[in-house]
Amino acid sequence: MDILIADDDFYASKFVEKTLSEMGHRAHVVENGLMAWELFQRESIRMVISDWMMPEMDGPTLCKKIRTSDCSQYVYIILLTAKEAKEDAVLGLESGADDYVVKPFDPSELRARVQAGERIIQLEDERRSAHMQLLQSEKMASIGQLAAGVAHEINNPIGFILSNLVSLEKYVNKLTDFIQAQDGVVKDLPQSGAVSDLVEKRKKLKLDFISEDIKDLIHESLDGADRVKKIVQNLKSFSRVDQAECKLSDLNECIESTVNIVWNELKYKVEVQKDYGEIPLTKCYAQQLNQVFMNLLVNAAQAIEKQGEIKIRTWNENGSILVSFADTGCGIPDEVRNRIFDPFFTTKDVGKGTGLGLSISYDIVKNHQGDITVDSERGKGTTFTIRIPVVEA
Ligand SMILES: Nc1ncnc2c1ncn2[C@@H]1O[C@H](COP(=O)(O)OP(=O)(O)OP(=O)(O)O)[C@@H](O)[C@H]1O
Ligand SMILES: [Mg+2]
Repeated sequence: MDILIADDDFYASKFVEKTLSEMGHRAHVVENGLMAWELFQRESIRMVISDWMMPEMDGPTLCKKIRTSDCSQYVYIILLTAKEAKEDAVLGLESGADDYVVKPFDPSELRARVQAGERIIQLEDERRSAHMQLLQSEKMASIGQLAAGVAHEINNPIGFILSNLVSLEKYVNKLTDFIQAQDGVVKDLPQSGAVSDLVEKRKKLKLDFISEDIKDLIHESLDGADRVKKIVQNLKSFSRVDQAECKLSDLNECIESTVNIVWNELKYKVEVQKDYGEIPLTKCYAQQLNQVFMNLLVNAAQAIEKQGEIKIRTWNENGSILVSFADTGCGIPDEVRNRIFDPFFTTKDVGKGTGLGLSISYDIVKNHQGDITVDSERGKGTTFTIRIPVVEA
């Protein structure tokens, strides 16, 4: 854990630093409150052990500044005080400190206080991550509901538009057939005023152009309506509101509908290659697995800066279904590889990533008794592989 020590007394801070190092923590030592505040803003500090009286900025002011800053994780603060005055303790706690230690103290006391802090930090992390996961799954559920609602409403009208267009095409073919037959007859008729009026009118109304264009219009409309129908189907199978419970599902179908849903994020820079193998149906929470596929696809697309490729492969191996997403993106540096599944770990800009995608995916896959592994090479790309054991009915 990264712990900040702020104390203008060199020997005191050395003593704290030594104790913390023995406990396996990384200590950052500074000699006044202002430097502490600056370092705090730069590093990801989880605990602060600060002297009360310091030049530039005192301990309680530092506490207040930390408490009103918008850091995303809980920071545990221990104040060191030389006096045993009760008012001081109250003031310290009121300024936002979690604990205070009266100087002089021995290593065992400091160790016990730091351990108490570690427990609070762990509990607070767990609480925040459970809360965020709850929010995320509620969000997914309501997006699912909304998508299913919209899909349901569009389904009927697009159904009759499609079937009417098909009939319309047939009728138009008959009408143009008839007009052509009529043309033949008119051509052979003796020229009279009425006949030439008819020919004139035909020209004026541009019937030749219309009878060609009308076919194109109907074709385009059929094509468009077909696309809308596909989107509706994808929305339906993606949301799987009917499948919030465990059901037999085809993972190839799930992936396909998810690819279609995130297509907008992919289409400009990614060439998607699909290699769907023959895999059995498996009992699973399809809505949740769709969320996993979506997170992996979006991450892969975000890792590709300009142009790249995502290869999706599914196969069946020793009673499990394997799904891999291989991208040609920036890769994951070794030093962050073992942190990517941590909740809130992100390398993306503020507002772009919450760092929850992989931790949620990890939990979902674990819930399915499966596992998720990553293989990555910096600058070359990353492959995530999911293994889901097949559960037959
Ligand atoms: N395919 C990938 N290529 C390169 N880096 C990746 C890839 N997938 C994940 N990462 C790294 O892992 C980090 C964590 O990913 P995760 O999906 O959990 O969060 P995020 O994408 O940053 O945010 P969120 O998914 O919540 O929007 C990313 O910030 C990124 O650094
Ligand atoms: Mg992500």
